[in-house]
Amino acid sequence: MSLLEFENVTLKFGGLTAVNDLSFEVEEGEVFAIVGPNGAGKSTVFNLISRFYDPYAGRIRFDGHDLLQVKPSGVAAYGVARTFQNIELFDHATVLDNLLVGRHRHRRTSLLSELFFTPSVKKQELQNRHVVEEIIDFLDLQPYRDKMIAGLPYGVRKVVEVARALATEPKLLLLDEPASGLSVEETTDMRWWIDDIRRQMGITVLMVEHDMGLVSGVSDRVLAMADGAKLALGTPAEVQSDPAVIEAYLGRAA
Ligand SMILES: Nc1ncnc2c1ncn2[C@@H]1O[C@H](COP(=O)(O)OP(=O)(O)O)[C@@H](O)[C@H]1O
Ligand SMILES: [Mg+2]
Repeated sequence: MSLLEFENVTLKFGGLTAVNDLSFEVEEGEVFAIVGPNGAGKSTVFNLISRFYDPYAGRIRFDGHDLLQVKPSGVAAYGVARTFQNIELFDHATVLDNLLVGRHRHRRTSLLSELFFTPSVKKQELQNRHVVEEIIDFLDLQPYRDKMIAGLPYGVRKVVEVARALATEPKLLLLDEPASGLSVEETTDMRWWIDDIRRQMGITVLMVEHDMGLVSGVSDRVLAMADGAKLALGTPAEVQSDPAVIEAYLGRAA
């Protein structure tokens, strides 16, 4: 059984078919990339997994569950975390506080016990702190731990967004253009972070990315999309040499 399964999924926005009869599977433990020109439907695939949209047709399964039976608020509880194409963090809170917010779904206490700060609440709070501090260390965010997001360089905020997603201890991490806006050096760092997340944390990664250097460097398999549909699926080398993929890219550039 694959961790994530798309089966003949179609999504339409009015007359526009944003995702067109798309099928693919993501296996546990792999880094899987989705590439394609702007408007290909890549972010829409993420929004379908997040349950922001209901597909017009098809099935989506995650970790043995029918994802289409899950409310948007329930997706994180099944173990899916994501970052956004445009960074979404609380700008006027510290790095630490943004990560603690990411722990929210792990809270198993009631409001009443929180009001009276019972031992179980205290234990939960300590556990949250512990996980968050480990992620801060893991991603080298120690120098920024108590800094406000608003004042941080763009490249650091990208890493904090990954950290916040990791704080939920997901099974599947969705990264929407993790290298967009990053310098060459920062992109290389991001590549190693993604590698470490998979190897050391054992988390499956599904990413949308334009930087083919990053995609080839870190992905096991690549899905190339155009106009909402699958163009090619295989290893980075297979997909990059696929005639349909070359045609789609050259066609757009011309
Ligand atoms: N909420 C929406 N309403 C209408 N059209 C949308 C919406 N979201 C995306 N689209 C359209 O669907 C297509 C795929 O968009 P998107 O998934 O964002 O592409 P990508 O991430 O590959 O650049 C585009 O033509 C886009 O304009
Ligand atoms: Mg997009």
